[in-house]
Amino acid sequence: MTERESLDARLAAERARWRAAGLERELVLASNALADFTSNDYLGLARHQQVIEAGREALREYGAGGRASRLLGGGSPFDERAEEALARWLGAEAALLFPSGYQANIGVVQALIGPGDVLLSDELNHASLIDAGRVARARTVVYRHSDPEDLERKLADVGAAARVLVATESVFSMDGDLAPLAELARAARARGAWMLVDEAHALGVLGASGAGAWSLLGNEFDDVLAARVVTGGKALGVTGAFVVGSAALRRHLLQRARSFVFTTAVSPAVSGALCAAIELAKRADDARAKLVRLSRALALGLGAPAPAAAIVPVVLGSESRALDAARAALAAGLDARAARPPRVPAGTSRLRLVCHEFNDDAELERLFAVVGPLLASDASRELPRAGADASSGEPDRAEPHAHDRRGRAQERRGARAVPLVVAGTDTGVGKTVVSALLARAADAHGGGAYWKAVQTGEESDTRAVLELSAARTFEPGAAFAKPASPHEAARAEGKSVDVEQLGGRLRANLAELGEGTLVVELAGGLAVPLTDEFTQLDWLARERWPLVLVARSGLGTLNHTLLSLEALRARHLEPRALFLVGESHPSNRAALAGLGHVAPILEVPLFERLSTSALDAWIARNDLTRVFEA
Ligand SMILES: Cc1ncc(COP(=O)(O)O)c(C=O)c1O
Repeated sequence: MTERESLDARLAAERARWRAAGLERELVLASNALADFTSNDYLGLARHQQVIEAGREALREYGAGGRASRLLGGGSPFDERAEEALARWLGAEAALLFPSGYQANIGVVQALIGPGDVLLSDELNHASLIDAGRVARARTVVYRHSDPEDLERKLADVGAAARVLVATESVFSMDGDLAPLAELARAARARGAWMLVDEAHALGVLGASGAGAWSLLGNEFDDVLAARVVTGGKALGVTGAFVVGSAALRRHLLQRARSFVFTTAVSPAVSGALCAAIELAKRADDARAKLVRLSRALALGLGAPAPAAAIVPVVLGSESRALDAARAALAAGLDARAARPPRVPAGTSRLRLVCHEFNDDAELERLFAVVGPLLASDASRELPRAGADASSGEPDRAEPHAHDRRGRAQERRGARAVPLVVAGTDTGVGKTVVSALLARAADAHGGGAYWKAVQTGEESDTRAVLELSAARTFEPGAAFAKPASPHEAARAEGKSVDVEQLGGRLRANLAELGEGTLVVELAGGLAVPLTDEFTQLDWLARERWPLVLVARSGLGTLNHTLLSLEALRARHLEPRALFLVGESHPSNRAALAGLGHVAPILEVPLFERLSTSALDAWIARNDLTRVFEA
């Protein structure tokens, strides 16, 4: 056997092992005839005539090739035009275009840290971030998925001298969930670490004008942000990627990012098309709204938790189940692909479903018809699905859903208290009664306590909840005598609400509580201002605490509730439940379920006598599992 033949034999044996494990991958070209539930072309820009035409124009003017590294005269004027447009869009000083997201991550990490430094990396980060740590020869420390407390612990263990970079995706590529960016940034700031946020799956989808998940934080944490990476191959529909940050960072990357310096510039067609795609993506609010609606309907129809963006993972466990599901979808004309190890952790193979602006309800129905029955045989998912019989069929292999995995991660790191925000569609809709119900019901879910963030007016909601629920209560975060919105009530006393201090109080209460649920009641309706410039909605958008929405059951609820849901979803927040307080009104309930796509809806009657026993009777009749264990 020649050396070459023995190499081929070894490779064939390795491939056979992969195939036996159900892990062999094949290049399967997408077909135009299939409904696309797999690509990352979220906004449909890959086939947009203006994008194609812009690429053509650039080709005609500057030729087909990048010709050389940008530092040696390669590329075209479209490269800088795209960089400037992208930076403007994201409100940053500068951006640098790389040929791919993979290279962008490798380049920025290797340019910022090196031997002796530390890369703190979320356990579910993309392979390019994992490889980036290796290329940089920095020590990589992995923290638990989206777990700021674990990050804090790991940061505390890092030696004092090292430069530390915390890297996370904002929307995770395989699980579709959103990282708790504010909490991670706070932990990074406390240690003097920098953050690198990979917005590959958030750009164009999340944030005002699609500027990504980091933009949901305002400028609050920009002091710790070293860079964002956004890719051109996903919502922008082209290819390439940008590292976005300060002008100084861009200049540094030009010198030090080897995956930029030692590679050929992108084709003029790429940067020309990117320039057009950026302008279109900025203005694609209707497409974004449709995406949110479709991905939410898809998740709801398959009993999956509400997605943060357009990715809906349906975890099936074994490779064979995921592959079977993908084949069944293909046979029905639907392109839905399986994601298997090493792209996802072992035992969590899944259908990774992706919604696009160009999908429609009829395609979703076809997907439900194919995937629904496969899930119905999976009793252990325990996810509520219309018509699913929880007692039917033992699954061959059942791994928890990604979101369950997050819940389990929380268990692993030991019991700790979590907040549950009670927000209302208006003032006087019954938030305090629902808060009392939740604080009392929390006893069966690890314990509960209550905290009113801001109390205005003389009446004390804290006293009412204490009397009704007998739960532990904390002093309100701030209290003002005037019965008005917090910003006005504070002004009447010559004061203002300090939002950072309020957040600090919340975290201190959680720490003191130790475990269980801290029910946090907001003041008045959802969009009530805390300060002249900052509403409760802004607060929720920044902190992303789990929440429930309380609305009245009767007249006026449809408008208030649908608008409130829309406002929450525009910020990519999803209530764990909708409570309708008051006399039962079946047609309102049905309209909210149908138009609001919200579940569960829990009805709270006007109790004849408000008492702990009345609350207990209600709790016994209603299933709050999803509220506490979403
Ligand atoms: C989170 C994340 N980062 C980076 C990349 C790499 O981007 P590209 O495909 O442009 O190399 C991807 C692509 O799948 C991704 O999902």
